[in-house]
Amino acid sequence: MLTLKTGIINKHVGNSIEQEGYEMRLIKERELEEVVALQGLVYSKLPNKQVLYIDSYDEMMTDMKLGAKIIGVFNQSQELIAYRYVGFPGYDNKNLGNDIKLPQKELNKVAHLETTVVHPDYRGNGLQSLTLQEMIPVIQELGYKHLLCTVSPQNYFSLLNIMKNGLKIKALKKKYASESGTDGLWRFILHRNLEPVSMLNPRELFKTAISDIEKQERLIREGFIGYWLFKESKELSYVRFEGV
Ligand SMILES: CC(C)(COP(=O)(O)OP(=O)(O)OC[C@H]1O[C@@H](n2cnc3c(N)ncnc32)[C@H](O)[C@@H]1OP(=O)(O)O)[C@@H](O)C(=O)NCCC(=O)NCCS
Repeated sequence: MLTLKTGIINKHVGNSIEQEGYEMRLIKERELEEVVALQGLVYSKLPNKQVLYIDSYDEMMTDMKLGAKIIGVFNQSQELIAYRYVGFPGYDNKNLGNDIKLPQKELNKVAHLETTVVHPDYRGNGLQSLTLQEMIPVIQELGYKHLLCTVSPQNYFSLLNIMKNGLKIKALKKKYASESGTDGLWRFILHRNLEPVSMLNPRELFKTAISDIEKQERLIREGFIGYWLFKESKELSYVRFEGV
């Protein structure tokens, strides 16, 4: 099995920390049960269930058969401790390119960053970021160029990690309406073009609290992009570029 990366990570054991070896590699279909079990465990421990929209075994298996990739992180006992799941929606309605008005011809070059979970004992090792950095060359090799994902405004850690990796907020709306049994869950829609793009000059900048949904909706409507998340103040900067 092709190893993407190995290294040493910290494991929280009670009040102390132990170091352990890990291996990152692509998950096989036969390992999907472990993925779903880890997702269930992480979900059960979440204080705010709204931040994670979970996928069923069948949904993930169907998606894998259509080409979805999952990077798994295994500890030295070969237990799955984290994973990152990426899907390729093609021209399906769920393609997030539709939410950010990506041109029709670009839709089949979209990769969706679906769920990422890290076992609570192994948080703080940067695994959300590391798995993304390992996944990008896999995605590029398959010929995809747009990274898109949704993040809950209530999921500060995930938003920080995603924006640190160059994805920008292009939309803010309610998603998963019928499936979630509510009128939908607020989600940022973030995007990064993996191909080099020409830099535009910033024209205007605003800072806002992540929680101020109304203000952000207005800024996005006026052509602003959520550009950076400040770690200390937990504020987002929104930028509008010249020519927009
Ligand atoms: C979001 C998530 C994947 C990030 O895990 P990670 O890669 O280990 O996070 P990081 O290494 O960037 O953590 C940075 C810091 O934030 C802390 N942290 C990360 N996630 C945290 C959480 N959910 N609650 C409290 N603190 C958290 C870490 O302990 C670390 O603190 P430290 O710097 O003092 O050590 C993980 O929190 C998680 O599995 N959450 C539940 C599922 C989820 O929301 N997934 C994303 C949406 S699909």
